[in-house]
Amino acid sequence: KYEKIWLVFGIGCLFVFLTIIGVSAFAKGNQPPSCLTTIDPEKVDQTPPFNKPGLVKTGDNEYQLNMVAAAFAFTPAQVEIPKGAKVTINITTKDVIHGFEVVGTNINMMVEPGYVNSFTKTFDKTGEYTILCNEYCGAGHHMMTARIKVV
Ligand code: CUA
Repeated sequence: KYEKIWLVFGIGCLFVFLTIIGVSAFAKGNQPPSCLTTIDPEKVDQTPPFNKPGLVKTGDNEYQLNMVAAAFAFTPAQVEIPKGAKVTINITTKDVIHGFEVVGTNINMMVEPGYVNSFTKTFDKTGEYTILCNEYCGAGHHMMTARIKVV
C-alpha cells in the first residue's frame, strides 16, 4: 500500500522536474552556451576574427569581443568595455582545453580546440571583472587570467 504511494510520489516528482526543465529550456531560452563554428586550432592566428583579437564595434552599443586562449594566457589580456554595451564574446583556443569564466557573472564557457564558443551579455555596471581559466590546462593554469574593465 505504502509502496504505491511512494511510486506515485516518485513519478509525480519526475514529471514536475521534467516540466521545469522543459519550460526553462524552451519557453525561457535557457540553453547552455553552444558551439557555433569550427576552426582549425593550428590556424587560429590566420583566421579572422581571431587574427586580430580584441573588441570590435558591430552596431549601436553592440560589440564583438574576440578572444584567444593559449597556455597560459588570454589574448587580449585586458579589455575596456563601455558601460551598457551588449557584447558577444567569441573564444577559441590554439592548444588544449581551457575554461572561460567571468567571475561574478553567468559567463562560464569551456574553450575547446577546434571550436568557437560564444556568449552574449550586456554589461550594465561599471567595474572590473576577472576572467579565469577554470579547466586545468597545465603548469601555468593558475596564472591564466585576464581582465574586463567596464567604464
Ligand atoms: Cu587554461 Cu587552465
